[in-house]
Amino acid sequence: MISSDPKQVKAICFDRVHLEGQTGLEVARKNGAYKFLPTVLKDFDSEQIVDEVKKSGLRGRGGAGFPTGLKWSFVPRNTGKPTYLLCNADEGEPGTFKDRDIMRYDPHLLIEGMIMAGFALGVKDAYIYIRGEFLHEANVMDAAIEEAYSANLLGESILGTDFSMNLTVHRGAGAYICGEETALIESLEGRPGRPRFKPPFPAVEGFYRCPTVVNNVETLATVPAILEFGGDWHAAIGVPNNTGLKIFSVSGHVNKPGNYEVPMGTSLKVLIEEYCGGLQHGTVPKVIIPGGSSTPWLTAEHYDTPLTYDAMMKAGSMLGSGAIIVMDETADLIALTRRLAHFYAHESCGQCTPCREGTGWLERIMNRVEAGQGCKKDVEVLNDAAVHMAGRTICALADGASAPILSLLKHFPEVVEERLMENAE
Ligand SMILES: Cc1cc2nc3c(=O)[nH]c(=O)nc-3n(C[C@H](O)[C@H](O)[C@H](O)COP(=O)(O)O)c2cc1C
Repeated sequence: MISSDPKQVKAICFDRVHLEGQTGLEVARKNGAYKFLPTVLKDFDSEQIVDEVKKSGLRGRGGAGFPTGLKWSFVPRNTGKPTYLLCNADEGEPGTFKDRDIMRYDPHLLIEGMIMAGFALGVKDAYIYIRGEFLHEANVMDAAIEEAYSANLLGESILGTDFSMNLTVHRGAGAYICGEETALIESLEGRPGRPRFKPPFPAVEGFYRCPTVVNNVETLATVPAILEFGGDWHAAIGVPNNTGLKIFSVSGHVNKPGNYEVPMGTSLKVLIEEYCGGLQHGTVPKVIIPGGSSTPWLTAEHYDTPLTYDAMMKAGSMLGSGAIIVMDETADLIALTRRLAHFYAHESCGQCTPCREGTGWLERIMNRVEAGQGCKKDVEVLNDAAVHMAGRTICALADGASAPILSLLKHFPEVVEERLMENAE
């Protein structure tokens, strides 16, 4: 429940997802959607909104955890060019399935967040870039946007003010790389989704080389609550520098997989045992991938780590998009790593040589290892390729591809050793 008392807040983005009929505008409005929008449009100015979001401590929920208010403050004003707002609804990271639930069950929350963000940034045209596989969610978003237009919540002179904004859903073609913000921009412009060099960052030079803010669905869906209850209210939830609630998509060997919106700073152990009903086998996880498949693995010794950007970094991993993949003692770690190697090889856009070639090497060697045909030299090459891909490409896909390989070799060298061909160098 959302409450003005930060200690009582149990849900922000998921506050209304369980309510029947919430996708329809009439029901959504009865349940509180767009309630605070007129106040924002009439009584707030751009600077005030950016300040509240800064004060809230909100960090982007798409993976990097970059402070949202700070990103908004980088957008240059009065450039003579339009400013664009792009919502990143690509959600392609294996293990992540939170944004689709916001769109599927409470599309008006995202629309409201985008109107408020658009108003703060002086946006006339905003887009939701949604992955191609999310057919149902794209249809739900389209229908909700149509209703919002008929109620003058979108389009010209929104709610009688002098603010006008259009919102369009753009369906991607199901490429993981298009979740990377500059590849998303390329794709939205009609080209193959290939990341751009940064700088310039999109805030300064993005969509059609104009100032552009790219934010994740969950980030934008948090904005209405921040403006209604205040930045200080949000900053009092969670822990310092890691404020608010966060949705964690938990999958793997837990009894109750699913999305859980919990205060930042909750420990991994509490999330898995109290919310997810514990492990299917054993008492302590063998592997925890804390932030989606591209983040380094944690093991049993990190079971008490708090779910914050900072603590995960200290533990040697990343909070990423909050997709927690839990493996108990029954997991076949070679099969898991081979499967992920296939994913990254398939999804590499091919633009950078270390990634294009490296992901192929990783996949081919993991295929051999899984089939029991790998040799000692293979393990050396596997390690070498993974080490030399990371940090040497335009975007972080190569780092993500090397993370499972390096994690396997670091934490479970004996598991790899056991699968190698006998007496083969
Ligand atoms: C390979 C790759 C895939 C990504 N996929 C997504 C995605 O599906 N959704 C998302 O919000 N961010 C994704 N990101 C992060 C975005 O580039 C960007 O940081 C994010 O959309 C910014 O929004 P935020 O500040 O609200 O987190 C991805 C990054 C990389 C390198």
